[in-house]
Amino acid sequence: MRNRVVIFALTALSLFLAGTPAHSAEATPVDFGELQDGTRIDAIVLSNASGTSATIITLGATIQSLSVPDRNGKSDDIVLGYATASEYLEKPQYFGATVGRYANRIAGGRFTLDGKEYSLPTNDGSNHLHGGPQGLDKAVWKVASVESGSTARVTLTHESPDGEAGYPGTLEVTAIYALNDRDELSVEYRATTDKSTVVNITNHAYFNLAGEAGSDGVMDHRLTLAADRFTPVDETLIPTGELQGVEGTPFDFRDGELIGLRIRDGGDEQIRFGRGYDHNFVVNGAAGTLRPAARVEDPHSGRVMEVLMTAPGVQFYSGNFLDGTTVGKSGRIYRQGDAFCLEPQVFPDSPNKSGFPSPRLDPGDRYVNRMVFRFSTAGR
Ligand code: BGC
Repeated sequence: MRNRVVIFALTALSLFLAGTPAHSAEATPVDFGELQDGTRIDAIVLSNASGTSATIITLGATIQSLSVPDRNGKSDDIVLGYATASEYLEKPQYFGATVGRYANRIAGGRFTLDGKEYSLPTNDGSNHLHGGPQGLDKAVWKVASVESGSTARVTLTHESPDGEAGYPGTLEVTAIYALNDRDELSVEYRATTDKSTVVNITNHAYFNLAGEAGSDGVMDHRLTLAADRFTPVDETLIPTGELQGVEGTPFDFRDGELIGLRIRDGGDEQIRFGRGYDHNFVVNGAAGTLRPAARVEDPHSGRVMEVLMTAPGVQFYSGNFLDGTTVGKSGRIYRQGDAFCLEPQVFPDSPNKSGFPSPRLDPGDRYVNRMVFRFSTAGR
């Protein structure tokens, strides 16, 4: 009898909790000004009740800002970016942008698919980088839908015509950004094609968990990467094709290490080639399933970011080419090591590496790359 009363009470409690309205998250469209040619750029602000908000702009389907509370509840913008739309075109750095059609590098701007050779524009020495000079980051995307609720969501779409930037096939691309009340910002890219092609689309947010406007870089952030192997590169940052174990190298972040601890290890050729970290890590576990890949903690603010992803790899880039020539949205100069990127992706130069996971997309199939940036705080 007593047990039955307890079960009844628990059932009543769970029904009551289920009926309690969830915290709501809002998606609010706002104006983000114009490009030089008069094209209007819209922004959609996703915000939740705990003080986290993200601004997504239609230029490049870009994360223009991301404000997250620290351990004292104070929110700061933790991504690099510009205050105006035109700066994204005038001083391109891929800040927060959607990059593709093939993110990262394709050696010599060439690949062969079904016996046909394709030539892509080179914009990184002799290599093709992030879809070339007119990639997805430069396109003005359409807003397909905006939703508020327990999750705030914006869906953006873009059509890249057959042959654009040298790639075969008309690519229909969708980017979905969603913020829930558990401080998870998810990003999902989908694409379909009408001819066989190669695809690798990712987000290029530059994070500084201490705050974009602060004067501390990210060298004392602690990074954990669930990766037993990485793809070593040549001096032009093209993978050699090997998968190298991280054990005993500056690339071993499996137990968590400060980003800056081994970044000046001049005895390591890979660190020299990258001028720090600019390498693709092979994420442990099965690609295609959303699995934990990275965790980053800033000891000062206490902010923690966990990254889950479906992609086979993640490019860890330690902001080595930020050279003090760019002034960011709060009027501060961005310098080397001011931010890090974790870009979920297919491995670089996969179209030319038969041993790497395939970036091929055929008509009738759907490309999906999903990632979740989960925020919390730790310490004190
Ligand atoms: C690349 C870097 C490059 C940067 C450009 C990163 O994904 O790996 O080499 O300089 O993007 O923003």
